[in-house]
Amino acid sequence: VPRTLVLVKPDGVRRGLAGEILRRVEAKGYALVAVELKHATEELLAQHYAEHQGKPFFAPLVEFMSSGPVLAIVLEGQGVIQGFRSLAGTTDPTTAAPGTIRGDLGRDWGLDVQQNLVHGSDSDESAAREIGLWFPSL
Ligand code: GTP
Ligand code: MG
Repeated sequence: VPRTLVLVKPDGVRRGLAGEILRRVEAKGYALVAVELKHATEELLAQHYAEHQGKPFFAPLVEFMSSGPVLAIVLEGQGVIQGFRSLAGTTDPTTAAPGTIRGDLGRDWGLDVQQNLVHGSDSDESAAREIGLWFPSL
């Protein structure tokens, strides 16, 4: 059964939305394999976001993601990788569809698309790599 890595980003934890996000995931029927509140190091985040190294938003993204704890979650279920990304909505909360986590709960502070509540792996390969980084014992 496929698995994915989900992160409730620091804005989601700070705003008290971790439970609401878990509720949506459980309502969809995905199984929780692992859940852990972690204050990520910049080193872990640099590995997690390796694909974005060199982009202008890389340093601010790592800074934001290490600004407070994240809730790291491994989910299991048929089609969970694309399924969670559908639940999350598009990257920018200002355009994410109603009914999605980012569309319903995201806010536009007029800054950028950085604070978009959640991360979800985007492929089988990303999921395996990211689960290994965040949960080395799995
Ligand atoms: P994730 O599930 O978080 O990986 O989101 P995504 O796959 O929809 O987006 P992507 O992997 O392209 O970017 C990773 C994260 O970087 C996004 O979720 C945003 O938090 C941030 N990000 C992406 N593009 C931009 C940008 O143009 N500006 C800023 N400031 N942040 C960005
Ligand atoms: Mg991504």
